[in-house]
Amino acid sequence: MNTVTMIGSINLDRTIRVKQMPKPGETMHTKEIFSAGGGKGANQAVAAQRSGAKTNFIGAVGDDDAGRAMLDLLEQEKIDLTGVTTLTKVSTGQAYVVVDDAGENQIMIHGGANMAFDPAYVDDHKALIEASDFVVAQFESSVDSTIEAFKLAQHAGVKTVLNPAPAMEKVPAELLAVTDMIIPNETETEILTGIKITDEASMLQAAADLHALGIAVVIITIGSKGAFYDVDGRHGVIPAFKVEAVDTTSAGDTFIGAMSSVLKPDFSNLEAAIRYGNRASSLTVQRFGAQPSIPYKNEIAAAEAE
Ligand code: ATP
Ligand code: RIB
Repeated sequence: MNTVTMIGSINLDRTIRVKQMPKPGETMHTKEIFSAGGGKGANQAVAAQRSGAKTNFIGAVGDDDAGRAMLDLLEQEKIDLTGVTTLTKVSTGQAYVVVDDAGENQIMIHGGANMAFDPAYVDDHKALIEASDFVVAQFESSVDSTIEAFKLAQHAGVKTVLNPAPAMEKVPAELLAVTDMIIPNETETEILTGIKITDEASMLQAAADLHALGIAVVIITIGSKGAFYDVDGRHGVIPAFKVEAVDTTSAGDTFIGAMSSVLKPDFSNLEAAIRYGNRASSLTVQRFGAQPSIPYKNEIAAAEAE
């Protein structure tokens, strides 16, 4: 069983379901509105834990009802929250998610407490990082804190995984230099490398550019097509499972969390771990909401056995 430390965001997601996305200036009735646990960091932690990893979290919430509710949810999952602090003067992160009948989403986030913890805070929790197999981060918390976490991890021989989402225009070279594995989607890959992802050749070229920056393992998630990988001269696409998607929110998060729970730190079982991530996220996209849609290990096993 892997130990995975997530450093990142905890959001209260407020989801609105609509028939189709509104046009600028348009007012429309919604089909449904609900709140649920979210945030890329928290979703990936929940996915890792539900897949059987021992999962730690480094992050922050505000001193408000949303923060208390989000921590309750993570506690129920038995995620180690000794690295989570409650900050005053900032609110808990929130996301406004709009999902249409095609299962597509648009998300606006307010970072709040997620952006307010710093590298010194990460230092205080370095024991969690040092006791891990993987440290995983995204771009919904401060990049300086992630750089610190990844440096501590590499110093301790712990593998670092970066999900560069939401996309950032200029990713610091200092961060990429301490990243062992990167997992962007197609849009994020284009923003990172300037290469438009159209086919396997373009993914290979993007991966080569990312390897040149010092990143050993590249995975590009390609939605309903699955995931491309390139490591140690091995590359290919592991296809997604064919399902009816109703809401893809947290598909990428489920993929990363579930995969990191089964991946060997020497990446020798990368293909099998990607297949497991594809299977887990194929269940997520068939349900609504971020954390409510993330499957447990037994559900993933049952889907495998079908
Ligand atoms: P999101 O931001 O919506 O959470 P993402 O853009 O980060 O997702 P995607 O590449 O869309 O990530 O999806 C991640 C993984 O989820 C894919 O590699 C695939 O395994 C699975 N997946 C996504 N969409 C579908 C789908 N329609 N059918 C089956 N599997 C899917
Ligand atoms: O990746 C999905 C997540 O992105 C949502 O849960 C929302 O909180 C945003 O952070």
